[in-house]
Amino acid sequence: MQVQFDDQKAAAFADRFLGNLNAAALSLMASVGYRTGLFDAMKGMAPATSYEIAERAGLDERYVREWLGAMVTGRVVDVIDQERLTFHLCDEHAAFVTREAGADNLAMFSQYIALLGAVEDDIVACFSEGGGVPYHRYPRFHGLMAEESELTVISGLEEHILPLVPGLVERLASGIKVLDVGCGQGRAIIKLAGLYPNSTFVGLDLSEEAISYGRARAAEHGLENLAFHAQDLSDFDCTAPIEEFDFITTFDAIHDQGQPLNVLRGISRALKPEGQYLMQDIKGSSYPHRNLDHPIGPFLYTVSCMHCMTVSLAQGGEGLGAMWGEEKTREYLSLAGFTSIAKNELAHDIQNNWYVVSK
Ligand SMILES: C[S@@+](CC[C@H](N)C(=O)[O-])C[C@H]1O[C@@H](n2cnc3c(N)ncnc32)[C@H](O)[C@@H]1O
Repeated sequence: MQVQFDDQKAAAFADRFLGNLNAAALSLMASVGYRTGLFDAMKGMAPATSYEIAERAGLDERYVREWLGAMVTGRVVDVIDQERLTFHLCDEHAAFVTREAGADNLAMFSQYIALLGAVEDDIVACFSEGGGVPYHRYPRFHGLMAEESELTVISGLEEHILPLVPGLVERLASGIKVLDVGCGQGRAIIKLAGLYPNSTFVGLDLSEEAISYGRARAAEHGLENLAFHAQDLSDFDCTAPIEEFDFITTFDAIHDQGQPLNVLRGISRALKPEGQYLMQDIKGSSYPHRNLDHPIGPFLYTVSCMHCMTVSLAQGGEGLGAMWGEEKTREYLSLAGFTSIAKNELAHDIQNNWYVVSK
């Protein structure tokens, strides 16, 4: 049977694809606006010329003017006075693009578009040759991840995240042993160590660079109850200390491990019998067709392909990918020996599920 070419369907697709092009370009410019401090400079500013905006932000006017063109046509910034050509960032938009926006800060995430674009050639080569792109090809990764941690973890830590585990706050206050696996620069564990001086904290991560940064920050804060160690956790199932920790956390750190199941088995081994494991990991299904209504589905599969999956493959690892999904998460947690798995969703973090897990 010959299927008729549907002109309307084709035109709608072309429109949508053009929209994608503009949205992608706008994300790149939003990243520039965020990093240069332009959004922050424009927040609360009366309508102003490109010269006034550039002066306030301490930037080159010619670049600022071109950036404003993208922001105006992208409907982020309004032109107020067409003769003087003045520009304005309204409060409703500023609420999502400035550093003050806290957990609502969407412009922070736009930085990933540029970060991933920088390794496009490497990824294209991997499509032919297999293998992966190692962490050192992403110079800003750990810093960016730490910024994300401020938004999805630190901003909700005391109010929303710690209360997910019954009795945890009281136990942290009286003194327990805590491990953060795949801690990166360690923003979360540094915050916890400061809040709970009677407890002791350990952060583990593959990256020497991220661990050194964490150590330096912990020293700046005068934290003596926190230790960082650089360690490849691919064999954590065999190397983890036995039943040493009362509480273990992973913040978006399982899916991009070389050997995620070994890491989960190690966490199970390191946890005391009554201990609890809190896992923040990407929200979604293991099946793409079940993620059609996911608010950031294409974004997460892109981050996965161009970072999370490939950095794992570069370690000779499994390449699980960020979108391993809830079904696979539950399967791996069961295989690692966990019997109780409670999933939570938090309004401030649309990107992740929060699992409270025990043996
Ligand atoms: C997405 S980042 C999360 C970092 C941190 N938890 C945060 O929220 O900022 C994943 C972390 O897993 C670490 N990682 C990847 N493979 C690893 C391995 N084989 N052993 C130990 N850590 C690993 C990376 O270095 C990275 O810091």
